[in-house]
Amino acid sequence: MKLFYPGLWLLLIYSCVFGASPDGSCGPKFQNKCSCGEVDYEGHKQYVVNCTNTGFRDTSVLEFMPEETQVLIFTGNFIPELPWNVFGSINDYSTLTIVDMSNNHIREIRGKSYHHVQNVRRLILNHNNLSISRDDDEVNHHHPRVFSNFINLESLHLTNAFADNTSAELSEDLHDIFMNSNLTKLQKLHLEQNEISHFQDRKVFCDLPSLRDLHLGDNLLKEINFNVTCMKNLRFLDFERNKFDNVKVKDMALLDALERRPGRTDLLVVDFGLNPFVCDCNIVPFQKWLLHTLVTVRNKESLMCSQSNDRIIDLEAPVCDVKALPTVEEVASATHTAILVFLLIVLSFILLALLVVLAYMSREKIKHVMTPVLDNVSKKVHYTTIKDEECPEVHV
Ligand SMILES: *[C@@H]1O[C@H](CO)[C@@H](O)[C@H](O)[C@H]1NC(C)=O
Ligand SMILES: *[C@@H]1O[C@H](CO)[C@@H](O)[C@H](O)[C@H]1NC(C)=O
Ligand SMILES: *[C@@H]1O[C@H](CO)[C@@H](O)[C@H](O)[C@H]1NC(C)=O
Ligand SMILES: *[C@@H]1O[C@H](CO)[C@@H](O)[C@H](O)[C@H]1NC(C)=O
Ligand SMILES: *[C@@H]1O[C@H](CO)[C@@H](O)[C@H](O)[C@H]1NC(C)=O
Repeated sequence: MKLFYPGLWLLLIYSCVFGASPDGSCGPKFQNKCSCGEVDYEGHKQYVVNCTNTGFRDTSVLEFMPEETQVLIFTGNFIPELPWNVFGSINDYSTLTIVDMSNNHIREIRGKSYHHVQNVRRLILNHNNLSISRDDDEVNHHHPRVFSNFINLESLHLTNAFADNTSAELSEDLHDIFMNSNLTKLQKLHLEQNEISHFQDRKVFCDLPSLRDLHLGDNLLKEINFNVTCMKNLRFLDFERNKFDNVKVKDMALLDALERRPGRTDLLVVDFGLNPFVCDCNIVPFQKWLLHTLVTVRNKESLMCSQSNDRIIDLEAPVCDVKALPTVEEVASATHTAILVFLLIVLSFILLALLVVLAYMSREKIKHVMTPVLDNVSKKVHYTTIKDEECPEVHV
């Protein structure tokens, strides 16, 4: 009787059709390294294929993922080069929405690597070793259409994704990719920890029309040197832990203009947390802007000066604050004092000169008065000296 329990039949059919057993294993191709099945993922039940720290040296197992896979976690492997069609050429992964391929030492993603990804909303490629440059040691790693099949991509994670000391042309190569990959729905872009010091191509993000959140934390930026005006829907700019020692007046003006743009529905939020601000008088415009701008500066109360524990927002008097300069009255009274001192010195000199002249004119009289006195003194000195020499043992 129990054989006809419908659940058992469902499980049997399930195993035959998808090659995966419902006990969490993914079938023989996966060598028991991965787990497959419905789990609670981000608040609701989803079919997850989980290959974490599996050490695979190629992606061939991915062709055998169950077709109902919604979330693929494929991390901690060694895949220097993603081949064409990582998900096979005949499968239909229309329910796949999240692909996490972090930490796989990926150096190159071929232009035709990703197919059957039309419903992927989130692609995570953090902690890889990507090269997207045109002229990186003879090999061309530049595939501008690399993300072109992700037509519904909403969030792209490229934290620490590029090879170390990636050149300044990264921005040009990225722009080329964004332009050619038609990421019209992309809302969130993560580019943290990529040693970006500036964007050579200022329009780098201009071909991402839906971009809302741009994460640039842990880079080496000192100013906003890319076009923010072209991002009509921008709502969050993250500059945490960069190299801003101040914020340029033009950058504050740009952010204000963006916030005031007619038709905006969201607040514009900016984060400058943990930047090495230098609090001399040049910080005053930024300090004033923080107090008055309509832009939401996240944690503005905790922005600090790098050399002291002063909070920028309630910094009293920066080193050369205008308040420290003398007032008009102080300048006037200082001038009076100087004039008085000058007069005093001049008068002293005149007095001294008069005394010298007087002394010269009465030199005979002075000589006459002084001679007996001088003689007397020299005699006394002589006498004392003799007396001292002749009677050394006088005192008993
Ligand atoms: C995936 O597997 C790893 C280890 O095998 C585990 O730590 C992690 O929580 C799993 N993730 C999910 C979403 O199940
Ligand atoms: C990254 O790629 C470079 C070659 O561009 C290689 O020398 C280096 O070992 C790779 N690093 C890792 C962690 O895979
Ligand atoms: C990149 O790093 C390598 C060693 O890791 C070094 O030899 C090379 O000079 C660096 N290139 C640049 C442009 O900094
Ligand atoms: C870009 O995608 C949109 C829809 O997402 C589509 O209408 C358009 O034709 C695509 N353009 C190119 C050049 O692929
Ligand atoms: C930024 O881009 C917009 C739209 O593409 C353009 O109108 C504007 O002139 C650009 N600003 C700068 C400073 O290049």
